[in-house]
Amino acid sequence: MELQVKDNGADSWEEVMIIYNAALKEIYTKLEILNDEFQHVHKYNPIEHIKYRVKTPRSIVKKLKRHGYESTLENMVKYCNDIAGIRIICDYTSDIYRIADMISNQSDIKVVAIKDYIANPKPSGYESYHMIVLIPVYLSDRIVDARVEIQIRTIAMDFWASLEHKIQYKFPGEVPQHIQEQLLENAQMVSQLDAKMMALNEEIRKIAGEEGEENE
Ligand code: GTP
Ligand code: MG
Repeated sequence: MELQVKDNGADSWEEVMIIYNAALKEIYTKLEILNDEFQHVHKYNPIEHIKYRVKTPRSIVKKLKRHGYESTLENMVKYCNDIAGIRIICDYTSDIYRIADMISNQSDIKVVAIKDYIANPKPSGYESYHMIVLIPVYLSDRIVDARVEIQIRTIAMDFWASLEHKIQYKFPGEVPQHIQEQLLENAQMVSQLDAKMMALNEEIRKIAGEEGEENE
């Protein structure tokens, strides 16, 4: 059953945070196992690195307010998909879909939503593959499904997203139009760079594969 709460003050808040932290630890471990196995079978790591965080109370309150909800524990669990967030950074765009498939194939993970901002970038230029999943957390007296937002992106996409995020914070309101336009242009360059690096990698793998055969 998905996590549901009635607000009993600080105690419930702490319990909720323990659950989200547990969910993140579980997914992190799963990803490490998948990466190790992939390395063993295919001789390379699809995952470059992983970052994760639990959303701060301040940004939870801000988000609920933005969506017109009162700041209650109930609303936060119900309407905030990204209290537990994990970001997987990989080298190539092809790795993103490989990792997404591996996650979907885990029998205890339920994928509730997918947003493919690589196939359909945001108007800002933002690219990433987003999944909202449910993962069971085993407590002493019950099992609850916790929601986790997974963002999967290449190093280049992450570079753009991090800098763009910082730029957004430099402006109290909207980012000026001409800056938005340049950011979009740069995002398109990131996309081209990713495509070029992936093509290069495929070429290199082919050459390495042929040489490998000759040496056998
Ligand atoms: P919120 O944007 O969090 O209200 O949720 P949403 O339902 O609109 O989800 P969406 O998939 O659009 O975005 C979720 C997360 O993706 C955000 O919290 C950011 O971490 C990231 N993101 C989405 N759009 C952008 C963007 O234009 N720039 C950057 N840097 N990050 C973005
Ligand atoms: Mg959004």
